[in-house]
Amino acid sequence: MIIIKSEQEINIMRESGKVTGLILRELENFIKPGISTMDVNEFVEQTILKHHMIPTFKGYCGYPAAACVSVNEEVVHGIPSKKRILKEGDIVSVDVGCTHKGYVSDAARTYAVGEISDEAARLIRVTRESFFEGLKFCKVGYRLSDISHAIQTKAEGEGFSVIRDFVGHGVGKQMHEEPQIPNYGKPGRGPRLAKGMVLAIEPMINQGDYEVEVQLDNWTVVTLDGMLSAHYENTVVITDGEPELLTL
Ligand code: MF3
Ligand code: CO
Repeated sequence: MIIIKSEQEINIMRESGKVTGLILRELENFIKPGISTMDVNEFVEQTILKHHMIPTFKGYCGYPAAACVSVNEEVVHGIPSKKRILKEGDIVSVDVGCTHKGYVSDAARTYAVGEISDEAARLIRVTRESFFEGLKFCKVGYRLSDISHAIQTKAEGEGFSVIRDFVGHGVGKQMHEEPQIPNYGKPGRGPRLAKGMVLAIEPMINQGDYEVEVQLDNWTVVTLDGMLSAHYENTVVITDGEPELLTL
């Protein structure tokens, strides 16, 4: 069942999303060569706590940190470490979740560490653009897979591939609610979008093949071919008119 949120619930999610979005914006200046992925995590956790909110990820299914920090061929769920130092030319995806008055916001960005290659920059840009292609279908009357199809069309049209094993999701009192939102598929399938649905739409796009595997830490997802991967996510509200992005 897809849970429809009331205006009152969306107001709370808006406050939560504002903090998640703010953190991701501040990371643009924070991320630079020489810092560790744990430094990124500590910045995220301290900022969430400063706003009297709860880091949603910490303790979720045993996950040990406030943020997922995934470098280069790491796709998602990278566990922060003091030993993992970001270096010039890396790309790094940071995924943040924040709980406020019982409601979750969830968003992610991929950042350049110093100067990066043109191809890496193109991957980051296309991943972001594929989200906004999907967003065009986040309107009452479209079906869920119209979003999926638009994301896939953009990413594959640029020569990249779409991860199959991880998907977007509904979000609310739980981080992961129905529906699941694949970033690929035929259009015109699945439930019709309705006012008050809140969706975490999150393309995960690979430079090479879409196949991934989970590392021995049981969390970190990496590309099978070792090529780069990027992630871009926002928490989106379906309204009467244009979709509202809570985490921008
Ligand atoms: N934020 C991720 C998602 O978009 C999930 C994070 S997994 C956790 O679904 F364990 F770190 F919480
Ligand atoms: Co998510």
